[in-house]
Amino acid sequence: MTRPTFLVTTPLPDPGMRMLEAAGEVVVPERALVADELGAACSTGNHDVVVAQLTDVFDEATLAAAAVRGISNYAVGYDNVDVAAATRRGILVCNTPGVLTAATADLAMLLILATARRCVEADAYLRSGQFRGWQPELLLGSDVTGATLGLVGFGRIARATAERALGFGMTVRYTARREVPDDELGPLAGRVRRVEFDELVRTSDFLSLHVPLTDDTHHLIDADALRAMKPTAYLINTSRGPIVDERALVDALRDGQIAGAGLDVYEQEPEVADGLAELPNATLLPHVGSATRSVRSTMARLCAANAIAMARGEMPEHPVNPEARLSSGTGHRARG
Ligand code: DGY
Repeated sequence: MTRPTFLVTTPLPDPGMRMLEAAGEVVVPERALVADELGAACSTGNHDVVVAQLTDVFDEATLAAAAVRGISNYAVGYDNVDVAAATRRGILVCNTPGVLTAATADLAMLLILATARRCVEADAYLRSGQFRGWQPELLLGSDVTGATLGLVGFGRIARATAERALGFGMTVRYTARREVPDDELGPLAGRVRRVEFDELVRTSDFLSLHVPLTDDTHHLIDADALRAMKPTAYLINTSRGPIVDERALVDALRDGQIAGAGLDVYEQEPEVADGLAELPNATLLPHVGSATRSVRSTMARLCAANAIAMARGEMPEHPVNPEARLSSGTGHRARG
């Protein structure tokens, strides 16, 4: 039987590459492929599965001539892939859900605490030699305990953030399409309340975003939403940058419409909006929500396992479009 070929756009951490190399031939481009090159590489018929990063964009044009069985995304999010277009071509798309929930929730909590307590400013203050000893009003911040956390979206990561926030004595509210019944809430039962989006925006001390990026959530937090927030409130984003209108956010932070922001994701990564990096009331991290050694290694294992299953024509563990298998797509080359 022919060994499958994997196009790996960026090498995976251990044990990902070892698993792929044991299962087939691995092709790693010498440098990152730009859109046209990715489309061309997918259309050669030389690769069974693409092992991709969220920085690899598979839009309609890239997928137009794609001749691969599947795309195994090394991420839980898959907004870099036009899943509908992939499904039409019979191309399965996989992600790595579940394993980065705790790490990302930890980071949301870190951003809440760091932003409220001006951690980055305080660190810079000390390192620059300005610390002359304790002062009654040095670097005063805001309380986290007793504050209200508003979660936009109430999936796995939001719920894990809620558990942490309750441990810090916060009041937790969420907005989601449906009220989650207590019997689905486990340790959160009776301790969180669903409210409408507008009320959540108006009443939260910390508004934390936990929705996927879709047409509906693009710029969900725009100038109007920022104006509706309390002037003492903080915006926290560990989900996807384009959910926030970043230019409007810079204005809101600069004009004191809101107190601060803690961000791990940006609208045009790796760029950040003009002026954002100069604002002292913003805590800015470089998209590291899942960046622990063990999480990245587990993601690599899942990602490789998904890729290997697809290459063998089996249903992988984490397909986001299992229906692609039933589609009449033109997806994959015939193999000998
Ligand atoms: C994801 O998995 O979607 C994160 O953004 C990166 O780990």
